[in-house]
Amino acid sequence: MHNDIARVLITEQELHDRIAELGKQLAADYADKDPIFLGVLKGVVIFFADMVRATPIRSQFDFLVVSSYGSGTTSSGHVKMLKDVSCDIQGRHVVILEDILDSGITLEYVTKHLLEMQPSSLKICTLLDKPSRRKSSIIADYVGFTIENEFVVGYGLDYDERYRNLPYVGILKPEVYSK
Ligand code: XMP
Ligand code: MG
Repeated sequence: MHNDIARVLITEQELHDRIAELGKQLAADYADKDPIFLGVLKGVVIFFADMVRATPIRSQFDFLVVSSYGSGTTSSGHVKMLKDVSCDIQGRHVVILEDILDSGITLEYVTKHLLEMQPSSLKICTLLDKPSRRKSSIIADYVGFTIENEFVVGYGLDYDERYRNLPYVGILKPEVYSK
């Protein structure tokens, strides 16, 4: 698995340190708000688990599942809700946790859908941001790392459902895509 990685972009230590900072920020901003941390599965699982433990305040979890990618490395541009939220978010403070904000099409769809349920507030916290690829007006409120336009895997992110369990964020060797 590690052999398929051309370069480590963000190390385990860098992830740990940045998430500790983000957690402190979220804990301060949401101290008395009993927020709902809403993870967009599946890519967010590892980040979500680390992020909520770095944010030691009264809070609740929920998850939704959307799919916008086929098995390749570019978005199909078509978002499907595979599993909606399972709690009532009306009047609640909601923080969406995402692995990566790329074109923004996924989060545009998700935020539009959630706003119809009238949360008190809705913010976005993404581990990675690729602003150069944006095709919508979505802006994240909390960003772990801003990255160049490169397809990344690891720490929850996949290529064809593989590599999610790498402990760092890395870039695949080009020959892996042509296998
Ligand atoms: P959009 O384009 O809608 O995409 O902002 C968000 C979703 O696309 C996936 N994505 C990636 N997955 N490496 C991945 O493993 C990447 O470099 C990448 N870029 C986008 C991801 O699922 C994200 O939620
Ligand atoms: Mg995702």
